[in-house]
Amino acid sequence: KFGWGEGDGILTHGGSLGNLSALLAARARIIPESWTDGMPSNYVLLASDIAHYSVERAAAILGIGSSNVVRVPVDGSLRIHVESLKRLFAQQVEQGREVLAVVANAGATANGAIDPLREIGQFCWDEGLWLHVDGAHAAGAILSSKHRGLVDGIELADSVVWDTHKLLGTTVLSCATLFRDKSSRAVTYAQHAPYLFGDLEKPGEDLGLLTFECTKAPISLKLFFNLAVIGEGGLAAHVDRLFDQARRFHDVLAARPGFECFGPPQSNILLFRYGSDSALQDRIRGRLVLEGDFYITRVTVRREAWLRLVIQNPFTEESDVVALANRIEQVAGEFKST
Ligand SMILES: Cc1ncc(COP(=O)(O)O)c(C=O)c1O
Repeated sequence: KFGWGEGDGILTHGGSLGNLSALLAARARIIPESWTDGMPSNYVLLASDIAHYSVERAAAILGIGSSNVVRVPVDGSLRIHVESLKRLFAQQVEQGREVLAVVANAGATANGAIDPLREIGQFCWDEGLWLHVDGAHAAGAILSSKHRGLVDGIELADSVVWDTHKLLGTTVLSCATLFRDKSSRAVTYAQHAPYLFGDLEKPGEDLGLLTFECTKAPISLKLFFNLAVIGEGGLAAHVDRLFDQARRFHDVLAARPGFECFGPPQSNILLFRYGSDSALQDRIRGRLVLEGDFYITRVTVRREAWLRLVIQNPFTEESDVVALANRIEQVAGEFKST
């Protein structure tokens, strides 16, 4: 799908472990001796200001240190600001720091933002930097002929994570951690445990050599069933439907008095609020979750609370969103009168 030809990957239990594995692969390629000797102290990660928390966690685990995750500012749509990325990179070089990897989003947790991957990829290519794309949410756009353009340039990444339990309709947890260069997969875990990994002639058949986890469920089965039942075309149609619905639901909410959307959805995540009072969003969400008819999350963007709808369930209809908006109005009305 990425046109890598010689790419390879491994399934992990979720994107957090995927991000850790991909950055570990970057470390293994760039500082092979780090497995035995530990990390030199002058490495940083350049990551989107709104990167998922697992990226900072991975930096801490890898010995880079969470304070060495340099946050790249994002624009009004929460996409990486490429000129800032270039400026921050130059600053690191000037200060004698090495950049282990640049981490971009294809479907940021907060609002599903997809970074300008081609521009970022081109920059990383020119500077010889490892580009990791956290596509846990939206890498699935690559399946859709209609929406593939949204992740244009993703093929320039050295590694990509892609959760199948987000956009591809599997149950939790299943994440593809993918490498452009096939050999990255094998070097990620440099450790050899002879009492376990006896069959070194056939690496790849012993998954213990390739993943963090030892005992592991057959993760591929979930995706296999989806492929077997609806095929790649069916998954593409599912992605199309979710993306299209997010846009339609945006229009429905944006047209209602009192409601405001953060912006047009870039993938399948929609941020909105009722009024602009942050405390009110929390009260509304608290009540809805307690009632149990709707489940929505909330995020803070630029110190303001927004309600967050992740369009992932194939059975969600426009009527559900209208019912949600109706209930929000009622609940907010009740809060006002008490
Ligand atoms: C952008 C992003 N990356 C990574 C993750 C972590 O994925 P998982 O929950 O599969 O570990 C999430 C979680 O939702 C996410 O939003």
